[in-house]
Amino acid sequence: MEKTEKYRLLERQIAALLEGETDTIAKMANVAAVLHETFGFWWTGFYRVVIPSGLDPESAELVLGPFQGPVACMHIPFGKGVCGTAWKRNETVVVPDVEQFPGHIACSSASRSEIVVPVHGADGAVTAVLDIDSDRLATFDGEDKVWLEKIVTLL
Ligand code: SME
Repeated sequence: MEKTEKYRLLERQIAALLEGETDTIAKMANVAAVLHETFGFWWTGFYRVVIPSGLDPESAELVLGPFQGPVACMHIPFGKGVCGTAWKRNETVVVPDVEQFPGHIACSSASRSEIVVPVHGADGAVTAVLDIDSDRLATFDGEDKVWLEKIVTLL
């Protein structure tokens, strides 16, 4: 099946899967699972924006959330790595070759390309990012960006 067709089916499948569910962690867990299974990515998961002190928004960082794949780093500062950059810029970042991305955080040496998509809360602020890693170069393009941005709005 072609990528477009896979995404088309996935979008409907995920919408049905999440219907009526209010727990964000549970929803993230199943979205990560279904994306990972469908495409056979290397690593698929979420990092959530967390304010560790509970008080100071300046201390906010990304903390590992539901994922599928090998163990990953648990904390990522604002603006660091691909994930922290997508959060800071508030836009999807597509990296065809992680070795060419300055500051890329290598959780796994097998990761060759990556896409990170911001997830927004009701007020429009970034609440999490969806991070997908591939063990092949240039796996992600503008089409993945469009579909994944659509899929995260279902959260
Ligand atoms: N490569 C990411 C870190 C997360 S792992 O790939 C799962 C980054 O540079 O932000």
